[in-house]
Amino acid sequence: MSLDLKALLKNKAINKWRLFRLISIPMSIVIFIATMRADMSTGEGVSTMIGFSVRWAVPFIFLVVAISSVQTLFPGPFPMWLLRNRKYIGMCFAVAMAWQGLFIFIMSYFFREYYFADVYFFRDELEGSIGYIFLPAMVVTSFEFGRKHLSSKQWKLIHKSGIYFLWAYPFSTYWWSLCNGLSCYNNPVPLDYVYYSVGFLAFALRIAAWGKQRQQATKRNAPESRTPLAFKVLGGAVIAFGLFISAYGLYWQERVTAFLTAPKWSANLELWLPFWPYEPFLSLFIIGLGAMLVTKTRT
Ligand code: HEM
Repeated sequence: MSLDLKALLKNKAINKWRLFRLISIPMSIVIFIATMRADMSTGEGVSTMIGFSVRWAVPFIFLVVAISSVQTLFPGPFPMWLLRNRKYIGMCFAVAMAWQGLFIFIMSYFFREYYFADVYFFRDELEGSIGYIFLPAMVVTSFEFGRKHLSSKQWKLIHKSGIYFLWAYPFSTYWWSLCNGLSCYNNPVPLDYVYYSVGFLAFALRIAAWGKQRQQATKRNAPESRTPLAFKVLGGAVIAFGLFISAYGLYWQERVTAFLTAPKWSANLELWLPFWPYEPFLSLFIIGLGAMLVTKTRT
């Protein structure tokens, strides 16, 4: 059975550029049809298309973030297929983002008043623009002609930071949209919950994979070492606390934001530093600390 799946997943039709075409062409047709149906003569209509196209993009970046961890945690033919096609899945993300980029261009060029009155916030613009700097840089350096100008360290730096940034943007957008505080939309749709949970899971898997690799490395280097029970219990409690606060941002966000932005320098940073003071990511940071404790060993 597993052999069959392995053979099936090696089929050329669902690998590399063919996989890319299989996903990106129908996706582009759907976005094109939606554009024809939208009222593109108004700022609201174009804004709707910005949201529509990015909703196609988001699952791909979440998947790209999770793929290597899935292979580490649950090695098998399917995660291996995902890993083999990671670049092409990333390219599907880039295609959907190119659509979003086109709609953003249309809005900022033809509906400047709407853009500046209803959409524009300096920090959002900065975050979005950084995303759009990473995106072409990552696409170009995914090909040999772009890659050959970089050392492997530089390539890794661009791709790692780009992937994390492009994950962080939509993840934090959905965190805020789920009534997590002041900028709450007040009417989140079910898809917002799905996207928040999947974005969270994608990063949580990375933490789990990191923990597993850390444990394996310790076992290799110092086979007699063990994690003390106190670390296991404390780490487990910290992880549980992180999971708890990830679901209840509504109850702590305002107080935590007020606390973290109380110093003047911090309040100033909030005006321009992307994501500052990082409320959407606090739960994952806590879970990471818990994973560190759970995997800490003593000889
Ligand atoms: C300067 C660049 C950008 C501008 C001006 C911009 C503008 C917008 C606007 C106007 C919306 C609201 C659409 C609606 O009415 O529903 C939106 C939504 C969104 N944008 Fe951007 N954006 C930018 C870059 C990015 C980047 C790089 C990402 C990263 C993936 C991103 C992710 C999102 C997400 C996740 C939503 C929410 C979509 C939903 O409603 O589900 N944006 N953006």
